[in-house]
Amino acid sequence: MDFDSLYSERALKMRSSEIRELLELSQKPGVISFAGGLPNPNAFPAEEIREIVNRILTEEGGKALQYGPTAGLREFREELVRYVQKQGIEASLENVFVTVGSQQALDIVGRVFIDEGDVILVGLPTYLGAINAFLAYGAKLVGVPLDQNGIKVDILEEKIKELKQKGEKIKIIYTVPTFQNPAGVELSEERRKRMLELAEEHDLLIVEDEPYEKLRFEGKALKSIKSYDSKGHVIYMATFSKILSPGFRLAYVVAEKELARKMIIAKQSMDLCTPTFTQLIAYYYIKNGYMEKHIPKIVEMYRRKRDIMLNALEEYFPPGCKWTKPRGGMFLWAELPKHISTIEMFKDAINEKVAYVHGKAFHVDGSGENTMRLNFTNPADELVEEGIRRLASVIKRRL
Ligand SMILES: Cc1ncc(COP(=O)(O)O)c(C=O)c1O
Repeated sequence: MDFDSLYSERALKMRSSEIRELLELSQKPGVISFAGGLPNPNAFPAEEIREIVNRILTEEGGKALQYGPTAGLREFREELVRYVQKQGIEASLENVFVTVGSQQALDIVGRVFIDEGDVILVGLPTYLGAINAFLAYGAKLVGVPLDQNGIKVDILEEKIKELKQKGEKIKIIYTVPTFQNPAGVELSEERRKRMLELAEEHDLLIVEDEPYEKLRFEGKALKSIKSYDSKGHVIYMATFSKILSPGFRLAYVVAEKELARKMIIAKQSMDLCTPTFTQLIAYYYIKNGYMEKHIPKIVEMYRRKRDIMLNALEEYFPPGCKWTKPRGGMFLWAELPKHISTIEMFKDAINEKVAYVHGKAFHVDGSGENTMRLNFTNPADELVEEGIRRLASVIKRRL
């Protein structure tokens, strides 16, 4: 049977996430993994969740176990409206809907806005899950370099003009402004405002994907691009995966009412509804004030792990290597001397029982072969230092 002849054009374009495959290798016994994007399991508030679940099942089990509206449970959306308003985002009920993780929200963006060949501008590097979601809808991804202040907006502007001159149809700028996955960098306030101006000038949408903004270890919180958006150019999304539980598969989108309506229609045929049970748990978690108390605990744990990793990098990594010093989030980004391929080095690392994700996976232009992403949140404290020591010895052998 020739299965290939049966696949749709779309399925033929789908790529398996390199990270998911690497994760399997990194899960071998004894391997210290900096590869995944996993929160630390000790950061999951199991006790509070148990209490809430017991109460929900006793008092409103019929609702918790039932189907719900596609946009999400009304009381949860109302709570989310209050939650985002506190962050300075102007929103009402029609602007907010719930999704099965922000990965689904990215997929919905692809389904609703992308025709074959439409351009999406992304960071170099950018989040692999977004790359794969957008590619599946035939998007043409164009990369814009970043530095420690996020996407370079002057180059972004040049690219927009250049692409328009060539007659390309640009639709979206995709950005993870705060503690970006994979580089850990933060888009400055000035660049946030400039990016919005560019979107307004050129009639583009900005997809502002913010899983990490609440995991801030230091520095002043920056306002989201959405909070400056008076004309509806920004689709903002945030997830509960990194501050509550990724197993809940719960995120939300804030978008201009008309766009939100269209995206909810697209969602109807994807899942009918987001699980009601986890929505109710998250609803009470926020409403009872647990979230506000919980986030500082995660922040403290992750700050400590970041510091252990930064100190170990200083101590063990050889000269010629550079890395970012993230002020929050879950990742840092390391750059090795140009001639070292982190793809080729991966086998040695696994033999040495340490894993990372090679940086090329996050570059839509095929560059970044000497870079890697390191997650500092998942391994136990003592393993963070030991893992960096192992990785340093693998790199030294390549030098
Ligand atoms: C930038 C970014 N967007 C989206 C996601 C997907 O998150 P979720 O678990 O909500 O689907 C991740 C997960 O790592 C991420 O880093």
